[in-house]
Amino acid sequence: MPTPAKLTPAGLVSHVRLDGRWTPKTFRAKADEIRALLGARTDLRMEITSGSHGDRATITLRTRSAADGIDLNGWTPGAPWGVDTITGEPVMVPLGRRMLVAGTSGSGKSWSTRALLAEGSEADDHRLVVIDPKRVEAMNWHHRARTAITPDQVLDVTDDLVAEMHERLALIPRGQDVIAISPERPRITVFVDEGAEVIAMAATPRTRPTKEDPGDPDWSRIMDNLRTLARMARAAEIILIWATQKPTQDKNGGIDPQISAQITYRAALALSTSGESRVVFGEDATEKGWHAHELPMPGVAMLRFGPKAKPHPINTRAFSPADVIALPDRPTWHRETSRPTASPLRLVKEATAATETPAPASNRDRVRQAVEEGARTLRDITDQTGINKGTVSREIKALTATGALRKSDDGMVLPGQEAA
Ligand SMILES: Nc1ncnc2c1ncn2[C@@H]1O[C@H](COP(=O)(O)OP(=O)(O)OP(=O)(O)O)[C@@H](O)[C@H]1O
Ligand SMILES: [Mg+2]
Repeated sequence: MPTPAKLTPAGLVSHVRLDGRWTPKTFRAKADEIRALLGARTDLRMEITSGSHGDRATITLRTRSAADGIDLNGWTPGAPWGVDTITGEPVMVPLGRRMLVAGTSGSGKSWSTRALLAEGSEADDHRLVVIDPKRVEAMNWHHRARTAITPDQVLDVTDDLVAEMHERLALIPRGQDVIAISPERPRITVFVDEGAEVIAMAATPRTRPTKEDPGDPDWSRIMDNLRTLARMARAAEIILIWATQKPTQDKNGGIDPQISAQITYRAALALSTSGESRVVFGEDATEKGWHAHELPMPGVAMLRFGPKAKPHPINTRAFSPADVIALPDRPTWHRETSRPTASPLRLVKEATAATETPAPASNRDRVRQAVEEGARTLRDITDQTGINKGTVSREIKALTATGALRKSDDGMVLPGQEAA
């Protein structure tokens, strides 16, 4: 026996008195039949909850969204990221939180994450890195971010970030757990779009080294670096955001279990299956209502960030590529220029002493040092430094280009002009 439906700010609400053989739970299990009986649209959200007594239930048809009438186009600094369609509350950009963002193709991942990237590159003490093997998104951000598209670029930037991380961790004073950000030591937001592509990139077989050609660098270090960043870099204010169309952990999946395990702030736009909702939101997703596979497309998300989060659809800000290009330029992060006055060698030494973990991006310095100490061939240098051949060869190339090293006519590596 339903009461007449009332139009409320939450939508159409009717209380139903059940006959003794029904409970709100069994009633809810018949949601499809009730929707059919009411002739409600398939995409209209319907909720059936327990009522004031054991034999009563409440049907709410969400004919209204609390986000209706709120303009979510474009962006200005500090503008909310989205609006909760149930409470109408603004949802702010979660700067400084490691994040997983999943959503099927066309669900609005790119459009919805741009407010985050814009905020993450806006202030003096914030810098942005965009890792994007598909290149489309990276191209939009050239004027505000360090972008990495090719395997070489991705390896370089992740090497730099890990080195920066070690250096920063060594500088955190006793009694503090996070480094203080400043224009000299900005928070670095690292956006990975698309996770599956980066995982595949790191799994690319290397070309075989020969006597003449040292072969490719070890691409698998890309994932090692990203895992290290996910695990340890939050305290150093290097913040990883991992986006993927394929929230699965199988062979072609876009989620690395070790990275995923470190991330507690989880966002999904529309997904394809309830299994994907569980990969993103956890094993209890189906039971607790985190049904991202039922979200409309595009631009509607759910955000699970802790015990208090509710599975509410959030309308997200729509940020077009043209909006990105129209943003003002911002300086981009490079390790060499991040602290121009300090000697990298000295900093590496300090970091090593304090953490007892050698910083990987000191590779370049270690190669140069080995040559200055008498190593002359690729073999000498790899033996002396313990760095793999591909990387050594790359560093030699880079150091030769800057004049720090040179090659003799018989192919020996020598210190450059200044050092000779
Ligand atoms: N928040 C939004 N509000 C309104 N429209 C949106 C919103 N987000 C996305 N759209 C629309 O949806 C389209 C697809 O969005 P987007 O390119 O962000 O998808 P995607 O999830 O990044 O897809 P892919 O995984 O293929 O890169 C956009 O071209 C835009 O027209
Ligand atoms: Mg996209």
